[in-house]
Parts: sequence; structure tokens; C-alpha cells
Amino acid sequence: METKILPAEAGKSLAARLIRAGEVVAFHTETVYGLGANAFSDGAVQKIFALKGRPSDNPLIVHVHAGYDISALIDGEPPYAAALRQAFLPGPLTMVYPSTGKVSRFVSCGLNTLAIRVPSSPAAQAFLRETDLPVAAPSANLSKHVSPVTAGHVFDDFSGKIPLILDGGACSGGIESTVLDCTGEIPQILREGLVTRGMIAEVAGDCGVYRMRTGEKPRSPGMAYRHYSPRCDTACCKTAEEARALGAAERARGGKPVILCESKTAALVGDFETLDLGATGEVMARRLYALLRQGEKIATLLIGVEPEEQGGVMAGVLNRFKRAFGAE
Ligand code: TXA
Ligand code: MG
Repeated sequence: METKILPAEAGKSLAARLIRAGEVVAFHTETVYGLGANAFSDGAVQKIFALKGRPSDNPLIVHVHAGYDISALIDGEPPYAAALRQAFLPGPLTMVYPSTGKVSRFVSCGLNTLAIRVPSSPAAQAFLRETDLPVAAPSANLSKHVSPVTAGHVFDDFSGKIPLILDGGACSGGIESTVLDCTGEIPQILREGLVTRGMIAEVAGDCGVYRMRTGEKPRSPGMAYRHYSPRCDTACCKTAEEARALGAAERARGGKPVILCESKTAALVGDFETLDLGATGEVMARRLYALLRQGEKIATLLIGVEPEEQGGVMAGVLNRFKRAFGAE
């Protein structure tokens, strides 16, 4: 199959036709690119799992346009969730509700909840409006690989396997949406992202962060899998000195070390090639996945130096960073 890459606006009507015909289409969002299919169709949703090599117990997020009425899909909503929707949607916040079971049972993989996201990217909104269906979509990468933030990244993973990629340019957010459980007394973050705990607590009054205990069945199954892995050897450390020592050892073995780190560390790593994450949480979020995909192409050993900053958006960035480097 030939994989077309079309500008999002020019390709949206073809994309909608393909989705209605049960095909899978990749599309731009403000976080990462998604691999979408009609959420009502068992066959279409199953194609996503097969294409990605995704474990069958990892549920999908359903994407809708801002005017789509979700009341048939979800079984009620607590007042705090309505307030959060008002405050943050469209945007990089996915909300998990009790499900009415109307979408394909393969979307939620046996959970009685449904994750809903209203992306803010104009390209995503135009595509979803044109389609006017709930679109189940994981990130458009092969399972375990780094999430895609350009149409080229999607092409690298799915060329010849899907008919269309809607190109909306580079993703401005850069890490996946915050996943928020809205089925309890207070909202609880299942996956950290650009909408932070502080931002949610300010609107909802309170906000928990779910941490999986060993032996427990995970509430957000995706968080239990190895993720975001570059296809080269990786090492993780905390200081520029450690990175220099790891780099020297790799050179002595005849390999090519590359160091991925924040700007202030990049100034301290000497004559090693570096991939500069930047200096603020927002910039590091935007650059992380593109640099991981760049690093795997040029390095034999990609060495990550953990950024120091911890607050706000960095909770989400550090979570992805540590998983990419096998440190968590
Ligand atoms: O930004 C994003 O969220 C991107 C773009 C494409 O929208 N999508 C994305 O999807 O990151 P994916 O499949 O890569 O990650 C979905 C996460 C997984 O960790 C999954 O376990 C969790 O959301 N999830 C989905 N449905 C859930 C549910 N009903 N309950 C709890 N967690 C759920
Ligand atoms: Mg993913």
C-alpha cells in the first residue's frame, strides 16, 4: 500500500472517507501524532492494535471534535469534571469517565471506563469535524518506540502500512496528553502531561496522582509497559562528569556516544556531540521525542543526563525521559 502524506486541510475529506470505510489514518494533534480509526467499529479498532503491535490489554483514547456530544458515550460526569472541561478543553487533557459501552469493546480492553480527548490542534479539529465520529487513536508509533511529533516520524514507522498521514507540521506540545481519572471523588492523574497537577487542582479543588503499587493491576495499563525507547543502546546518568566517563568508555570501544541533556549541562560535556533539550519544561517537552529519534539514527550509545528541574510540566517530561533511558 502506498502511504500518502497530505497537508491536513487538503487531506481531511479523504481522511474522513477512509475512517468511515474502516481504515486507519494518522493525524496531527498538539501533543503527538495519532493513529486513528472509527471507535464504533470492532474491525477498525483491531487494525490499530495489529499495526502497532500493541498489547491487547492497553486501552485507547477516543478523540472527538469540540462540538461532538459525548453524553451517549459516557455514563455521567462529576461537577469537577465539567469545570475541568470548561477550563482545559480543547487541549492536552484526556478525561476518563464511566463508559456506556457504546463504542467498540476493543477500545477500552475490558475496562468499564472510556478515555475521551478533545485535541486543540486546528488540524485535528478539522479532521474530527469532517469525520464526525469518535476516533480511537493511540500515538502513531510502533509499540515501545518513541512517539512521533512529525509526519516524517509516522512515515518512518508505518510507511506502506497505512493509506494516509495528515501532516499538520511539528507538534507544539511534544509529550502525550495528561490522562485524568474522573470516576472518583477527586480527579486523579494516571499519566502526567502538559496540563499539570497544579493546574487541575486550581480548578477542581484537589487532584491526586496515581502511583502503581507492585503486584497491583495498573489502572492505566499503558503505564506498565516499556515505552519511548530509542533503537540504540542507552544509558542514563545525573551529571555531566558521569556522562563524559560513559562517553569516553564508548569511544574506547570504537562506538559513537551522543549526549542528550538540558542546555546548562550541554555546556559542561566537553567535546562530545550533544542533543540540546533546552532550558524550560515546555521546550524540553517539545524537543524530547524528536531528539530521541534523531539520537537513535546517529549514536551507538545515547547517554541521557537527567534534567534538574522538577516542577510543573517537568513531571511529565521526566517520566518520559526516564522510561526512554530505561531508568524507570
Ligand atoms: O496525547 C495523547 O494522548 C496521544 C494523542 C494521539 O492524542 N495519544 C496517546 O495514546 O498518547 P496512547 O494510546 O499512546 O496512550 C493512551 C494512554 C495509555 O497509557 C492507556 O493505558 C491510557 O491512556 N488509557 C486509555 N484508556 C484508558 C482508560 N479507560 N482508563 C485508564 N487509562 C486509559
Ligand atoms: Mg503511546
